[in-house]
Amino acid sequence: MPHPGNPVTRSLTRVLADVRAQDHPGRVADYIPELSRADPEAFAISAASVSGHTYAAGDSTTLFTIQSISKAFVYALVLSEHGADAVTARVGVEPSGEAFNAVSFDDRGRPHNPLVNAGAIVTTSLVPGASAEERFARIRRGLSAFAGRDLDCDETVAASESATGDRNRALAMLARSSGALTEPVDDVVEAYFRQCALRVDTTDIAVMGATLAGDGINPRTGERVVPPAVARDTLSVMASCGMYDRSGQWLFEVGMPAKSGVGGGIVAVAPGEYGIGVFSPPLDAVGNSARGVATLRTLSQEFGLHLFRHPERPASPVQAIDVEPGGTVVIRLRGMLDFVAAEQVAHLTAYGPETTADATTRVVLDVSAVTASTRVAARLLADVAAELRLQGRDIVLVDPDGVIDIA
Ligand code: DON
Repeated sequence: MPHPGNPVTRSLTRVLADVRAQDHPGRVADYIPELSRADPEAFAISAASVSGHTYAAGDSTTLFTIQSISKAFVYALVLSEHGADAVTARVGVEPSGEAFNAVSFDDRGRPHNPLVNAGAIVTTSLVPGASAEERFARIRRGLSAFAGRDLDCDETVAASESATGDRNRALAMLARSSGALTEPVDDVVEAYFRQCALRVDTTDIAVMGATLAGDGINPRTGERVVPPAVARDTLSVMASCGMYDRSGQWLFEVGMPAKSGVGGGIVAVAPGEYGIGVFSPPLDAVGNSARGVATLRTLSQEFGLHLFRHPERPASPVQAIDVEPGGTVVIRLRGMLDFVAAEQVAHLTAYGPETTADATTRVVLDVSAVTASTRVAARLLADVAAELRLQGRDIVLVDPDGVIDIA
């Protein structure tokens, strides 16, 4: 539920006002005639955390068609269905550097990636279904699971796209001729047109993004929608290919996996943290929402969301080192033990003056204040324990909650 008086909401409201005051020229898409009816002034943002909090500002209950944003989520569904090897046999994972509707095939006849139209049409063909209806029903259910509510199709937009969709039919034909697509072209493109016409608001796409951010678990419903590896693979492709021929510039400036749609929506993901949805119909020269891009650029800068920022780490995992009489050294650890934290402990026990002193006969590793440990950290600590034993030292683990397992 949105929190109007919340400081996060206030920040989002301010970012929208800042971007609205700037000049970001754009044009509402009209190559699908029905899309040209969108209100060019509509502007909204929503953020959803992986813990299920949502925040929104602007026209966040205005519905728009999801368009190409759907491509990332249908890709996730087919990865879950068939596995990455079977899917990458039909559609690649290379950025094409080309426009969304380009004739974009690699030398093996695969579309370059699932986020340009050629690749998205092949992706849709991999959704099981004996007809366009069956295929679309499955897509609608899957994308609704990502959004955490039942999405419906704007049949007028779908019909408008079908009436003007010959370029997509041509791309599907080319994919069929190269063997990337094996299903009937008309069934596949009709399902694709309806998938693009699913109606969402910014909170829906923020929750969809948060589901990918949270390893595949929808923070609104708690449902596991896709396995963690699928969420990771989908985000990888969004990072390299999600913004078409501006994908490199986007990663450079904004640094978040993202996907745009010609309806004016963009979803962006801060992995492990947030899904963010923005909406503003006027598009820039490559078909990305002009104000949407500016909004996410501002957010990334102001809130440090760039993937390659230097991660801020919590304080040292070592809370205290006590040298006790009789040659005992007690090392108390705290917080979350990941590989980097465990590596600090390993370094300390290998080189620290307390543990390496000749007088030290016993090392007590007290993890009572450790909240959790990753598997890789536990493995490294097990190696630390083995090494201390090899040196003839006694090692005692104090782990009342069983957070790490170093036999
Ligand atoms: O294939 C099409 O033309 C549209 N239904 C989707 C294209 C789209 O959203 C491109 N994105 N910016």
